[in-house]
Amino acid sequence: MNTTVTLPTDEAIEKAGRVLRNGGLVAIPTETVYGLAANALDADAVRSIYAAKGRPSDNPLIVHISDFSQWERLVLSIPDEAKALADAFWPGPLTVILKKSDLIPSVTSGGLETVAVRLPSNEIARRVIDAAGVPLAAPSANLSGKPSPTSSKHVIADLDGRIDMIIDGGDCEVGVESTVVTLAGEKPRVLRPGGVTAEQLISVLGEIEIDDAVFHRIPDGETVSSPGMKYKHYSPRADITLVEGSDERFFDILEKVKDEDPVVLCFDEDKERLEAFRTVSFGSKNDYLNQAHNLFSALRKLDEIGAERAFARLPKSDGVGLAVFNRLIRSAGFKVI
Ligand code: TXA
Ligand code: MG
Repeated sequence: MNTTVTLPTDEAIEKAGRVLRNGGLVAIPTETVYGLAANALDADAVRSIYAAKGRPSDNPLIVHISDFSQWERLVLSIPDEAKALADAFWPGPLTVILKKSDLIPSVTSGGLETVAVRLPSNEIARRVIDAAGVPLAAPSANLSGKPSPTSSKHVIADLDGRIDMIIDGGDCEVGVESTVVTLAGEKPRVLRPGGVTAEQLISVLGEIEIDDAVFHRIPDGETVSSPGMKYKHYSPRADITLVEGSDERFFDILEKVKDEDPVVLCFDEDKERLEAFRTVSFGSKNDYLNQAHNLFSALRKLDEIGAERAFARLPKSDGVGLAVFNRLIRSAGFKVI
């Protein structure tokens, strides 16, 4: 298949709308990461998303809408808590899970009785949804297991020749995927941390739970609330080890493994001190937003420079730091020393 890569001109957006209505696949920019979109209500179109990504079919997709009013027919009902979250954080990097209506095909929800919905703030994304005239199922536009794409270059590297179109909207602002909250259980629960922080959710909902899978590897065979959490994720080829403890301890450990020519996934401020090592920096030490913005690009960079072993510090887990922590610990396969 020939993949067209195009800037978001009016014509390109119209064309994307047509392609999507006809069951095709279009990669679109969002404020979080690029999404691989198809008509969420067309089971065959959605099946082709799973095929293009090599994604396991029990891992449900997020349905993207361009206006609050489109939510109602996708779910059984919208409770007050859901309205409050939408008021506070939509359009933006938040996904809300509720019981699904019959309109959502079972492939879209990975066989679950719930559906995840998000109203993105990226204007190109919303214009494509409008042009398609249907809600769009869109997982991150990477091959399953790879870091999510934050530029069109990343999408091309993974999906060129497998999808119809890629709309290039520049670099994604947030850089990590949306915060996923389920309101389908007894208490609101965060299944995946993202640009909307736990602290912000608490300010609206009062109380929230954070799923164990955010912090820990879920043992094989145990049920998980979010199927995506059980799969290998964000993995460059390099074997990544995270180091817990002080900066001094981190630098000591690096000295000990120097002979193995490891790459250090570091902060901008570390570069000078690490002159003797190959480094890839992913942002400024105390700026979580900057780290989130750069993380996936940095993980892909490890592959580009042929890194076999990489070391990074275990991030802190407050604010948007929790999203960085969650992605980095998965990319390291939970290996922390
Ligand atoms: O920022 C984002 O959310 C991006 C952009 C493109 O919008 N999309 C994205 O989709 O990250 P994806 O498919 O890569 O991640 C969706 C996550 C998965 O971990 C999936 O298991 C979970 O959300 N999920 C989706 N629907 C669910 C449901 N009904 N119940 C539990 N988890 C669900
Ligand atoms: Mg993904």
